[in-house]
Amino acid sequence: MLDFLTQKVHDENRQGEAYAPFAVDENQYKKHFYIESYGCQMNFADSEIVASILQEQGFGATRNLEQADLIFINTCSIREKAEQTVRKRLTDFKKAKKSNPGLLIGVLGCMAERLKAKFLEEEKLVDIVVGPDAYRSLPALIEEAETGQKAVNVLLSREETYADIAPVRLDSNGVSAFVSIMRGCNNMCSFCVVPFTRGRERSRDAASIVAECETLYREGYKEVTLLGQNVDSYHYFDESIGEAVTFAHLLEKVAMIAPDLRVRFSTSHPKDITEEVLQTMARYENICKYIHLPVQSGSSRVLQLMNRTYTREWYMAKVDRIREVLPDCGISSDIIAGFCTETDEDHQDTLSIMEYSKYDMSYMFFYSERPGTLAARRYTDDVPLETKKQRLSEIVALQGRLSRESNEKDLGKTFKVLVEGPSKKNPDEWMGRNSQNKVIVFPKPTGLKKGDYLEVTVTDCTQATLIGNVKREK
Ligand code: 5AD
Ligand code: SF4
Repeated sequence: MLDFLTQKVHDENRQGEAYAPFAVDENQYKKHFYIESYGCQMNFADSEIVASILQEQGFGATRNLEQADLIFINTCSIREKAEQTVRKRLTDFKKAKKSNPGLLIGVLGCMAERLKAKFLEEEKLVDIVVGPDAYRSLPALIEEAETGQKAVNVLLSREETYADIAPVRLDSNGVSAFVSIMRGCNNMCSFCVVPFTRGRERSRDAASIVAECETLYREGYKEVTLLGQNVDSYHYFDESIGEAVTFAHLLEKVAMIAPDLRVRFSTSHPKDITEEVLQTMARYENICKYIHLPVQSGSSRVLQLMNRTYTREWYMAKVDRIREVLPDCGISSDIIAGFCTETDEDHQDTLSIMEYSKYDMSYMFFYSERPGTLAARRYTDDVPLETKKQRLSEIVALQGRLSRESNEKDLGKTFKVLVEGPSKKNPDEWMGRNSQNKVIVFPKPTGLKKGDYLEVTVTDCTQATLIGNVKREK
């Protein structure tokens, strides 16, 4: 039940959700691939790079499993549950081989390295296993697999950023797109498997990022989200101008492409987000006033065990500073319940820092030990599952109240909304987001198109959504 709740919160922001791609033209290609993605936005962005590499090889995307010659599942190993889901899907896919013996099944992404032997040899679930830095080798691996060999490449790289590959936008609304700006992570938070599955941090060539955003804008996109595990540590030395580009510089370069191209970014590490980034956000109207600032825990003792390198007080001061520089900024968080040695008092500290920070939204999890991480090696996973679930349910309930209170504060306010399309629940209503990343639903005015900007006045709300009426077209 709790996991379901967590998942729901996730789905609102397109994280943690599987999807099948839209085929641009399913009949244009003789061969087809089907890809399903799990986990973070980074994984979804990677699937678009994979799609580009496969398209070069003559494979078109399909969302129809039966039409597929290749099935890929882009995996996440951040929590144990994600691994269980993938195993189940692979078993489903394997059944499809009965009616289509030439079908190849591949595992991509974060689970590749750890589970390659299991998936390939022990359980014979898949034909191809490719890690997040090895997608360029896909064409060769597919050829190998076609001859009946097991094809594997899980090597991590210190350089690969796929800077020159133009992603094929999958399942896109044509309005907002993700742009990967860096890969890997050097932070070593003790609970986190990412530094092991995605390798060392490296930043993508700034010019290629700006060029990709310009192309998106020319194609009609109105919003780009710059993605990285820790965007604030973006650092690229641009040889052509002999200058180091920081994240604040990069944000500015992208914001300058066009005033009606919105810029978002994710994820920020509280220790790394700089004053310069906040000031840059304040200077540009089109840099959205929204920061995802994962706290993980509100207890300084637990934060130290997590190797987050900040204390409770330091985090609270960062929130204060954001509110000073950007008074209307939305803030969201990631929170882990029941990390090793967490006491009830530590848990109370988490609840009180949530109250203090007044998060508009949070992704909430209970701790799940991941093999190979610092925490797995150093600490005992000693909080009973029942206690983790109880604490998580308190965190989820509190976030529910905070989200509702945050939405109620917006009643009567008018926001500039970027229109994304019809609302999922009622096609007569349309939805978009404000700068703070809140979803607003409103009756569709005639002639409205995706990608338009509108002024919407909030008349009502639920915990998850603002409800409003269109004021006037901008
Ligand atoms: N257990 C539970 N949650 C985790 N996260 C990362 N690793 C774990 C883990 N082992 C959460 C963190 C992170 C988010 C992406 O996933 O909150 O910010
Ligand atoms: Fe994991 Fe920490 Fe890096 Fe985020 S910043 S990916 S939580 S190690």
